[in-house]
Amino acid sequence: MIKSEIIGVGYYLPDNVVSNSDLESKMDTSDDWIKERTGIEERRWVKSGSKLTTSLMGTYAAQDALLNAKISKDDIDFIVFATLSPDYYFPGSGVLLQRNLKIKEIGALDIRNQCSGFIYALSVADQYIKSGMYKNILVVGSEIHSGGLDKTSRGRGVSVIFGDGAGAVIVQANKNSNSGILSTHLHSEGKYAEELIVKNPSTNHWIDKIIDGKDQDDSSYFPYMNGNFVFKNAVLRFEEVIMEALNYNNLTKEDISLLITHQANLRISKFIQNRLKLSNDKVYNNIMKYGNTTAASIPIALKESLLNNKLKKGDILCLAAFGSGFTWASALIKW
Ligand code: UT7
Repeated sequence: MIKSEIIGVGYYLPDNVVSNSDLESKMDTSDDWIKERTGIEERRWVKSGSKLTTSLMGTYAAQDALLNAKISKDDIDFIVFATLSPDYYFPGSGVLLQRNLKIKEIGALDIRNQCSGFIYALSVADQYIKSGMYKNILVVGSEIHSGGLDKTSRGRGVSVIFGDGAGAVIVQANKNSNSGILSTHLHSEGKYAEELIVKNPSTNHWIDKIIDGKDQDDSSYFPYMNGNFVFKNAVLRFEEVIMEALNYNNLTKEDISLLITHQANLRISKFIQNRLKLSNDKVYNNIMKYGNTTAASIPIALKESLLNNKLKKGDILCLAAFGSGFTWASALIKW
């Protein structure tokens, strides 16, 4: 049977570090509040006027992943790009990545599953590989949140949380391997779509409302999050979807060598760690440095875990995510 193996991981983070105290000068917030409620100490925000875009950061992460995998861009036969902050409303960021990397005319698919985007993208890659359709798939998660946040006190409940960044993996078909993706598990519950949302621009509330000046106080162009409600659902679904993955593979929580959850809030990650009774060395968190980078958070954390020697061959890696949609997902991988 064909296995999907992650053979290379890459990341890219913009240089510009924004600390909690930098935010104190923009809005009514404090370093103490942000650290206590989220664990975040700083995040990266692309500098205003920078040439960086979501697809360009994804391209840099992809180049890093290609180097790590020791394969050429010409070996890639499909692109899956996860983001909620695309360069353009359309076309998607996948084709821009294909252009940036100067790859031949392969397929490029965009995934719109927000914080669960990377695991959804990985799942798509896994299925294409297991079906025999493709051999090397580039999976990217990249976000530039900073340009779309309400950086006034009105938006403080959301804007202090989000950061910019990109991560990428190369998934390869391998017939003679014991390791690879064991399973992925995807869920959604659209009845809560409006609990974490950017409402506009949309096809029924187009950008011309801003341009004609009538809508300047309209906050629907900024992310909205019903934080408490999202938090309560997140802790529930994270544990559920991790247990689903373990049960499916006849494994137990004791079998997890490393857990990487989507970095939404350090309190959420700690809560799950406690529920699963995992020691600190079995969980990797970096929200302190980067905030919530949505579709990019898992591949960035994966890259850092590897750089810090947290994963060795044969380890069971568990990935899990929850976010807007609501959507949630997990992946179990034998490294
Ligand atoms: O990645 C996708 C999934 N996302 C998540 O899973 C995030 C889930 N939610 C959360 O992480 C948390 O709900 C937040 C970090 C967003 C908020 O933390 P919280 O402990 O739920 O705070 P809260 O919204 O209940 O607000 C508590 C207080 C409020 O003031 P009052 O009404 O008690 O006077 C807020 O206005 O904190 C106030 N507040 C702030 N104060 C200082 C909200 N944001 C800030 C801020 N600085 N940035």
